[in-house]
Amino acid sequence: MHLLEVEALTKRFGGLIAVNAVNFRVDSGQIKAIIGPNGAGKTTVFNLLTGIETPTTGTIKFESKEINRKKPHQIAALGISRTFQNTRLFPNMTAVENVMLGRHTRTRTEMLAAMLGMPAVRREDEETTERAEYLLRFVGLDKKANVLGDDLPQGERRLLEIARALATEPKLILLDEPAAGLNNSETAKLAEMIYKIRDLGMTILLVEHDMGLVMEVSDDVVVLNYGKKIAEGPPLLIREDEQVVQAYLGQEIANA
Ligand SMILES: Nc1ncnc2c1ncn2[C@@H]1O[C@H](COP(=O)(O)OP(=O)(O)OP(=O)(O)O)[C@@H](O)[C@H]1O
Ligand SMILES: [Mg+2]
Repeated sequence: MHLLEVEALTKRFGGLIAVNAVNFRVDSGQIKAIIGPNGAGKTTVFNLLTGIETPTTGTIKFESKEINRKKPHQIAALGISRTFQNTRLFPNMTAVENVMLGRHTRTRTEMLAAMLGMPAVRREDEETTERAEYLLRFVGLDKKANVLGDDLPQGERRLLEIARALATEPKLILLDEPAAGLNNSETAKLAEMIYKIRDLGMTILLVEHDMGLVMEVSDDVVVLNYGKKIAEGPPLLIREDEQVVQAYLGQEIANA
């Protein structure tokens, strides 16, 4: 079964068509990448998938159900979570608190009960803390649990966002340029982490400019240029696709 089906997805901003009649599907367990030059519409696709933006036309189906008009918290509850190109951590919160708050997008009743100080919830709170600590270990930030999110270097902020996105136990996780600001060894660790996330049973949709990473981890690649899909297929074929090479002027792809 297709986990995600995007059909004729279009988003206009005034006169600009940021996403233009884009079709693609993501299967359960896949690692799929969306690539394309700056301004191609990649982040806008993520904003549409997560309800931050509403499609002008077209449909998005998640587990065969249309989610076009759903609000971000409803989409999160259905099992889609994301990281942001420009990291958006909670200000004045430690790393572990950031991950714990990520989890609460899933359970609002829990939050209400927590405010009322109910004992069952205190136990849940402990579980939430334990789970947050597990996720920090998962992304290699266990030593940074009590550091303010905003005090972490960029690479670690990105890892923290991944931990926070995992806290909702999503079926599909959208990573928007997770390798931006990471050095080579951090990027290599990120590749391992992406495989580990998949091995936990999640499906991954990855927007990334680091072609080495894309070519290494992706099962399948969608290429956008000026809002349109210009190619789709396995990495080895994408790399040699004439239109793709043109769109990138040969550079990033050839060096991958
Ligand atoms: N909220 C908005 N209002 C108006 N224009 C927007 C909005 N969001 C994005 N755009 C425009 O839509 C186009 C696609 O932007 P988008 O951020 O999706 O590109 P991208 O592929 O993620 O690029 P990058 O690789 O630089 O992150 C750009 O021309 C951008 O300026
Ligand atoms: Mg972007």
